[in-house]
Amino acid sequence: MKIGLKTLVLPAGEAAVAAAARVLEEGGLVAFPTETVYGLGADATNAAAIARLYQAKGRPAFNPLIAHVGDLAAARRIGRFDAAAERLAEAFWPGPLTLVLPKTADCAVADLATAGLETVAIRIPAHPVARDILRAFGRPVVAPSANLSGHVSPTIAAHVQSDLEGRIDLIVDGGAVAVGVESTIVGIFDHPMLLRPGGLPRADVERVLGRVLQQPPADADSDSAQPLAPGMLASHYAPRARVRLNADKLEPGEALLAFGTDAVSGIDAAAAVMNLSARGDLDEAAANLFGHLRALDASGARGIAVMPIPHDGLGEAINDRLRRAAVGRE
Ligand code: TXA
Ligand code: MG
Repeated sequence: MKIGLKTLVLPAGEAAVAAAARVLEEGGLVAFPTETVYGLGADATNAAAIARLYQAKGRPAFNPLIAHVGDLAAARRIGRFDAAAERLAEAFWPGPLTLVLPKTADCAVADLATAGLETVAIRIPAHPVARDILRAFGRPVVAPSANLSGHVSPTIAAHVQSDLEGRIDLIVDGGAVAVGVESTIVGIFDHPMLLRPGGLPRADVERVLGRVLQQPPADADSDSAQPLAPGMLASHYAPRARVRLNADKLEPGEALLAFGTDAVSGIDAAAAVMNLSARGDLDEAAANLFGHLRALDASGARGIAVMPIPHDGLGEAINDRLRRAAVGRE
């Protein structure tokens, strides 16, 4: 279902950055690379642009968005930093970390983007193209992953095109992203909370904080009207094929998403096989995760069997996304 916009695709570079800033200025929608996944950007201060963004993604409007800014001064204008937030920002920004902080009194981010919450999610991305666009535009940019709601996040521009062509104004093509899973989201509440595992391992955050991150309450992980981190909507990352986890043998008609080199019985009859990382490297696996899921889904296989993935480092985020992909869709 196209909305009928003409979607321009430009290779990353000065002209693309200038075009992106212009589109944002006019209230339009621009997809651009960040180091985690491609984001779909809109002017965070323009409610009409944000409404258009929700519509383009087909996303539930209660899902609050991350405000991306170019530097710490800009972050401080929208969120209130306590000592813990300062330490995390100092250690990990720019990078794959999002902080959920109390809004400042004059926070310019539109209420529609924060879903009416008293908090705002903030990130300074590390990707040079994202940073150039933020600098050229000069205001916060809200950017959910640049996919249709319910699809896996895009890690190359072609994924964005296949989901959003005709629905957005511009795609800036900066090649494949480096990290491959979305940012880690930490809520700075009385006790810092891991709202979403992501591209920054939990252990790194805990080391800098000197304390263990709390888990969100179990009932936040649902389609409630005001989920704590609604990226947690149960089926948020689901492909079309049925996903089966911790597989050590293949069922007929299944494709295999492999990890490492362990043997899997029935592999000779596999509909398709892709390996997240033959050498068992979790960073490589994260970078390949969404692309491989899309490719196996497109192979037409009835199901995707996934080999066990270790839980350390980026394994926590990978297993989180796979678990969501495995939640059955009606
Ligand atoms: O890596 C990323 O974070 C990517 C790139 C583009 O930056 N963006 C991304 O955005 O993953 P999105 O919209 O797909 O996920 C944003 C997550 C959602 O789970 C949302 O609920 C949560 O951030 N979030 C936003 N504001 C929040 C708030 N005030 N409190 C709790 N969670 C919030
Ligand atoms: Mg997303």
